Amino acid sequence: MADRLFIFDTTLRDGEQVPGCQLNTVEKIQVAKALEALGVDVIEAGFPVSSPGDFNSVVEISKAVTWPTICALTRAVEKDIEVASEALQYAKHKRIHTGIGTSDSHIKYKFNSNREEIIERAVAAVKYAKRFVEDVEFYAEDAGRTDNEYLARVVEAVIKAGATVVNIPDTTGYCLPSDYGAKIRYLMENVKGIQNAVISTHCHNDLGMATANTMAGVLNGARQVEVTVNGIGERAGNTALEEVAMILRSHKEIGIDTNINSQKIYSTSRMISSLMNMPVQPNKAIVGRNAFAHSSGIHQDGVLKNRESYEIIDPKDVGIDDNAIVLTARSGRAALKHRLHILGVELSQEALDIVYQKFLALADRKKDINDDDVLMLVGKDLTKMQRIKLDYLQVVSGVGVKPVACVALDIAGERFEASASGNGPVDAAISAVKNIIRRKVTIQEFLIQAINKGSDDMGKVHMQVEHDGTTYYGFSANTDIIAASVEAYIDAINKFVKA
Ligand code: KIV
Ligand code: ZN
Repeated sequence: MADRLFIFDTTLRDGEQVPGCQLNTVEKIQVAKALEALGVDVIEAGFPVSSPGDFNSVVEISKAVTWPTICALTRAVEKDIEVASEALQYAKHKRIHTGIGTSDSHIKYKFNSNREEIIERAVAAVKYAKRFVEDVEFYAEDAGRTDNEYLARVVEAVIKAGATVVNIPDTTGYCLPSDYGAKIRYLMENVKGIQNAVISTHCHNDLGMATANTMAGVLNGARQVEVTVNGIGERAGNTALEEVAMILRSHKEIGIDTNINSQKIYSTSRMISSLMNMPVQPNKAIVGRNAFAHSSGIHQDGVLKNRESYEIIDPKDVGIDDNAIVLTARSGRAALKHRLHILGVELSQEALDIVYQKFLALADRKKDINDDDVLMLVGKDLTKMQRIKLDYLQVVSGVGVKPVACVALDIAGERFEASASGNGPVDAAISAVKNIIRRKVTIQEFLIQAINKGSDDMGKVHMQVEHDGTTYYGFSANTDIIAASVEAYIDAINKFVKA
């Protein structure tokens, strides 16, 4: 029988730390339920002491999810552990994830401490967490750059103190697969009591080796992997869940299995990308738009004769349905509902009606409506109750013309109008919004992307603005990129002008 590998998903903690990817509690519950349906074993739901929002999310996810263990992150600090335990009170299966830096650099510069004192603090944190929950995971932060002999002493001490899982993070994404694999092997062979705990990998992708390192860890004895959907996470991200799951499925000879329902991979990936406004790179393994697209004539010919000529995974195995009904202006509610179901979104009749009206409006402007468009419509209409809304926008621009924009905003039910000129149509429209808002808002970053291709495509706009020393993020998508830009700007402003 195949060995079992536990999938620990940290999309809602390490993944959610990415600037601009923050989710509200309702969205986090939606993600947690999708992760449960996908079959993950552990959901790291947040870092409760870090903010009331994180605390509340852990509480609500604990109530909403049944099967997976809900995990809360802490530092090796008593207060963190107490708050985590309180946030986990409704979880059916709960885990506290506590830890401390163990590399010489962390010990010296982060903690101004020494190796012996760090072991004492690690042991004390595990013992304290054990007072509240049975399942305690310990992380040795920057284990990737921690000397193996010392790391083995730390791991032995925390297992003796009661840790059920020990996480060996390559926090900086520095390790080579051979070194990371050897590190796990060293621990498996040299730590007394290692059989009493599960060893976990947690690899970052700074050098593009996160999945390779994770697999090296698994091949050398790790039986839990910490991953995120689409590989999102701090800096270059974490190991991608879908990659590990499909490697193990494709390489049966390894003899290790997960509980992941692979047919839900694509819909979960799309849903998370859409909710977090984090596009998936087209050539991303397993879930990228081009992952199964064969463009060269030789490849197309080969695939048509026999799919396996150039495909090692059947797209259907990850839930990509190539016989999907194409959505156009003539599609009915049932077709839209079916598409949403494939994408992991279930709506009430009332919500479906609202989205369907928006769908028809978009289909009038765009020939084929793709999955990203559909998810965008859902996100756009159902997750935002904004105080400021764009009511009207008219822009005159062109060659030899000074761009001018007229804007009307609905602010808490009252209509305000203004116009302005600018060095381009977006500048003119945003200046007109500024004339109404009258607050000092500085645009720090402004990114426009087409979702797919074609001149009728939707443009996605991400905007980062600064107001009163704080950064806020805004997002929108529209077939009109000037409207999308203004909406993204307003979206960011709505974050600080709450009712
Ligand atoms: O990368 C890391 O070391 C972490 C720990 C907090 C587990 O995310
Ligand atoms: Zn991490």
